[in-house]
Amino acid sequence: MSGGVKTAVLVSGGGTNLQAILDKAASGGMPSVDIDVVVSDREGAFALERAEKARVDTAVIPYKALGGAEFERRLNALLEERKIGLIVLAGFMRILSADFTSRYPERILNIHPSLIPSFCGEGYYGLRVHEAALGYGVKVTGATVHFVNEVPDGGRIIMQKAVYIDENDTPETLQQRVMREAEWVIYPEAIEKVASKIRRQ
Ligand code: GAR
Repeated sequence: MSGGVKTAVLVSGGGTNLQAILDKAASGGMPSVDIDVVVSDREGAFALERAEKARVDTAVIPYKALGGAEFERRLNALLEERKIGLIVLAGFMRILSADFTSRYPERILNIHPSLIPSFCGEGYYGLRVHEAALGYGVKVTGATVHFVNEVPDGGRIIMQKAVYIDENDTPETLQQRVMREAEWVIYPEAIEKVASKIRRQ
């Protein structure tokens, strides 16, 4: 993986998107990306085990104990020390401040489990997004990869994929299908696309 853009993946939970990225990288499908470190905002996130299994360095910066400002100060120090060129949010459930995002213009990516601009912004995360989509009654949803700026889920869109809603869907079944059919497919692809562009600059 050497020679790729040094990338930090930020996680909070189960890490299935992280797994899709690690698998794609292991199969040679992300030649422009060097996954350097996985950072969790809490101890015990299963994503950390996935990273260790793939022999990727891990770090925990406990957001709850430190508060947002100190979390970001430590995160920034770690990213600078490791000379990280790309930050990937993969199920990372914190909102980064404008002060932080402005340091990395078009260098932070996020995946959101809906077709932005629907069901996004503050308060829309994880299962809640799918509950909102089903509650509204839309027939198509999906996933969006976008750059992160100071507006939650508001940065430029990089890639989207649509997923049809089944009339028997529950938030849980819909979440699984959006992950399998959209998120795990487009996120590795979008990261590679952005990294290869950075490498050519
Ligand atoms: C994913 O569906 C991701 O799109 C979503 O949380 C889940 C994390 O799963 N992210 C957000 O809602 C961010 N606003 P994972 O930890 O298994 O990748």
